Amino acid sequence: MTSQELREKYLQYFKSKGHAIIPSASLIPDNDPSVLFTTAGMHPLIPYLLGGKHPEGKKLCNVQKCVRTGDIDEVGNTTHHTFFEMLGNWSLGDYFKNEAIEMSFNFLTKELHLPLDRLACSVFEGDNDAPRDNESADIWEKLGVSKDRIAYLPKDDNWWGPAGTTGPCGPDSEMFYWTDDTVLAPKKFDSKDKRWVEIWNDVFMQYNKNKDEKYSPLEQKNVDTGMGLERTLAVLNNLNDNYLTDLFQPIIKKIEEIFIKKYDDTPEVTRAMRIIADHIRSATFILGDEKGIAPSNVDQGYILRRLIRRAIRYGKQLGIKEVFTFKIAEVIIEKYKNVYPELQKNKEFIINQLISEEEKFSKTLGRGLREFEKMKEIKGVDAFNLFQSYGFPLEMIEEEAKKRNLLFGEKEKNEFENEFKKHQELSRTASAGKFKGGLADASVNTTKGHTATHLLLAALRKVLGEHVFQKGSNITPQRIRLDFSHNEKLSSEQISSVENLVNTAIQKNMPITMEEVSLEEAKNIGAMGVFEQKYQNKVKVYTIGDFSKEICGGPHILSTGELKSFKIIQETASSAGVRRIKAVVGK
Ligand code: SER
Repeated sequence: MTSQELREKYLQYFKSKGHAIIPSASLIPDNDPSVLFTTAGMHPLIPYLLGGKHPEGKKLCNVQKCVRTGDIDEVGNTTHHTFFEMLGNWSLGDYFKNEAIEMSFNFLTKELHLPLDRLACSVFEGDNDAPRDNESADIWEKLGVSKDRIAYLPKDDNWWGPAGTTGPCGPDSEMFYWTDDTVLAPKKFDSKDKRWVEIWNDVFMQYNKNKDEKYSPLEQKNVDTGMGLERTLAVLNNLNDNYLTDLFQPIIKKIEEIFIKKYDDTPEVTRAMRIIADHIRSATFILGDEKGIAPSNVDQGYILRRLIRRAIRYGKQLGIKEVFTFKIAEVIIEKYKNVYPELQKNKEFIINQLISEEEKFSKTLGRGLREFEKMKEIKGVDAFNLFQSYGFPLEMIEEEAKKRNLLFGEKEKNEFENEFKKHQELSRTASAGKFKGGLADASVNTTKGHTATHLLLAALRKVLGEHVFQKGSNITPQRIRLDFSHNEKLSSEQISSVENLVNTAIQKNMPITMEEVSLEEAKNIGAMGVFEQKYQNKVKVYTIGDFSKEICGGPHILSTGELKSFKIIQETASSAGVRRIKAVVGK
């Protein structure tokens, strides 16, 4: 089965069961400061899992682009990826365990024709937060799964979410497939036996994890399922390595051609090739996203930079001297453009950014080498500085030290590791602080921030002109941030005019109303939209008096007076042709 057949089969099956097929959302989450990337299909749906009305109804399915960097060190093995596609179906307060499990079972056994004797599943064993999930186990058993093949596991295994620190979550039931062709699947399922590979996860999202770490029942009981495309495809084709599937084969072939080496030459070559394929695939999708990001030293741009540079380092390890990442990206765009047309649309940007990042990295490495030249000895701290400032990996430092007859032994390596750990602690604390806002923090302040962002955008268009469109936004309880298209710095007069317009709108205490209309109607009534790619049919349009009309998922406050006041605290460049404003309300 090919990747495209699997995507189609999945969507068509759930469509036939009354689900609306929704497009993949952007990899860059909307208004969510707690995570950098969309990590699961449920992520863009959080407002609806919390009770908001989705324009496409209560039963949805899609193929979602995801990025997870938590396991980046595992990448290089047969199954881990930083970018992956997730097949998912959702019930937003509609069906629950019975139907969800039955559909999962039927899809696996009747549509994908996986033999029952190679399937097993797990359910939540229960704890103080939620009871033992006998109900799910009974459903599996009724469908024909033997008791021995149903494991009860603790929270670490059978609980999913929240995606950030707070938000919707719940017990889950996972499905496993026996991958070893040489022996029959054991009667009893042992989740520790790696030959049982998890392929699908049905999460019963009925709790919200709150800031105080407690779980409270959600207003509605939801189902959120996720099936990794790469892994399932490998399993279906009896392959024990995701990189052997059609999703990766053209990429691996290109890498073999560029490096004049074979994928299975040595374990080191295989690992390096997998890392290059994985990282450049992620980079291509992040650069080519609807909200394309360029490499930088902060947030998503920083992760992107690290992925690209890590791929280049492994490229150098395989012996390449010239710029190569863009050649791999070209193959990736070709392979994926039918499913993700944004890659073709943003091809020039992807290629140019990769070339420029590769050139920048070479210069930094060059400067690092010159630093190296000056050194008479190299201590662990110096090595760490080379790593930190010039992106030198430890292996390269060892090599260079050897070339120059500098001692770099166990003692120095330990010092390096210690420095590295110290630094990791620091950045962990920093990111904990940064992300403590909480996922989909539906606090009053955040809701106010959404409304203030609409007012700001409308005011900017009135002051600067109709070329102003939203390019991105990020809202925390403390402040709002809006990126918008405009070529030059705003003058202080322009900033005051924008502030005055917004403050007048606040003083008028205008009502905020919402209507659900088709995308076509939304355009006809002049609604601004940044969600155009996401929803095919019905969209929510929020209207603020006669001041602003925007397509948006919400939530919003009821009237502008609640904002009290509005102030711009910063105006800077964000990227070429895009300005960034940070502002606060109610101060
Ligand atoms: N959110 C769950 C997961 O990521 C199911 O989609 O596995």
